[in-house]
Amino acid sequence: MISLAGKSVLLVIGGGIAAYKTHELVRLLKTRGAAVRIILTKAAEQFVTPLSLASISGEKVYTSLFSLTDEVEMGHIQLSRAADLLVVAPATADLIAKMASGLADDLASTALLATDKPVLIAPAMNVRMWRHPATVRNVETLKRDGLVLAGPNDGEMACGEFGPGRMAEPNEILAAIIEMLKPKAQPLAGKKVVITAGPTREPIDPVRFISNHSSGKQGYAIARAAVELGAETILVSGPVSLPIPPGVQMMPVETAQEMLEVCQGEMPADIAIFTAAVADWRVAAEAHEKIKKTGNAPPSLPLTENPDILATISREPKRPRIVVGFAAETERVREYAAEKLRKKGCDLIVANDVGRGSDVFGGDRNTVHIVSPAGVEDWPNMSKDEVAQKLMERLAQMLMPEQKAAE
Ligand code: C5P
Repeated sequence: MISLAGKSVLLVIGGGIAAYKTHELVRLLKTRGAAVRIILTKAAEQFVTPLSLASISGEKVYTSLFSLTDEVEMGHIQLSRAADLLVVAPATADLIAKMASGLADDLASTALLATDKPVLIAPAMNVRMWRHPATVRNVETLKRDGLVLAGPNDGEMACGEFGPGRMAEPNEILAAIIEMLKPKAQPLAGKKVVITAGPTREPIDPVRFISNHSSGKQGYAIARAAVELGAETILVSGPVSLPIPPGVQMMPVETAQEMLEVCQGEMPADIAIFTAAVADWRVAAEAHEKIKKTGNAPPSLPLTENPDILATISREPKRPRIVVGFAAETERVREYAAEKLRKKGCDLIVANDVGRGSDVFGGDRNTVHIVSPAGVEDWPNMSKDEVAQKLMERLAQMLMPEQKAAE
């Protein structure tokens, strides 16, 4: 039996009939040695009582955001900070909607917004509520935010209908909790990973620039995955509107030349991954004043080629052990990627089709082909997070032989 001794779970109970099952969940968690603190929503108090839950958990049960004594003993921020994991069960449609939009109008939603800990939700609701586009949208948002789902299961509901929406059983929620709390393997601990992301911005004059539509999402997802595997992660990013992933060392840049200099300054590294959509050209001579409309012919802007950061780093004396490039193509994706692999001198090309209708730029999903000297591997359509995790795991495996040789 896997022990949860030393682990602390904050259980947020929502107002649904499945709330009665949380007694059993608390009992199972206590049997494994976990400390369980509980928050009840107002609606949950209609289904279970603070007294019964306090008796099983052996701890005070929290209900009110505005209870002065609770704030003195343990404020809502402290409640979520002290936990290793937050579990929402049952996660009602209402609680899910609140979490997805960041509302905080009671103790439960405030604790959930104030946390930076992993969160597991066990949804439970009527099948029509579960299938409603609003709930589907909210659940997608929560998944994108990194929350993990247990269930819901298919089956008969308290309301007499049948379908998905039954809360996962306490032993299933316990299994998900154990999975989330078990120590993660960190194969990239002690390794340095440099990632470029986003577009570059090449100035024309003080107010205008040349750039592109890169959102940076894939590169940022890779940075998150690298941190999860324990790597020292440097993210050299052009201008994007994404939050900096926790644990990442961010190096903001604007132009291709700056991006190259920062990357060179970060060498040596074990792995370098170039996801940035670097502008191929910059204006040969940036105007120091805003270029005026003269009423004559429009100005011509002679361009000059930008450095190829990927090709330059691939041929550096301090070349990282693994260099990965991306190839965004609109046609003959695999063929061009294989050619790029040779031309740029990298070890792997992640090729994706950005042709019309592909939704790669700015979207959350990606279909990629992994091109290496060994051949081409087609990955199915996945979220950019899944592509990132799979790619980082693959790169960690590629580093392994070197680690073994060094031992
Ligand atoms: O040549 P192309 O732009 O298609 O190559 C794409 C790959 O090369 C990407 O990995 C991109 O980050 C990288 N690249 C670069 N510097 C450039 C152009 C592309 O690092 N100037």
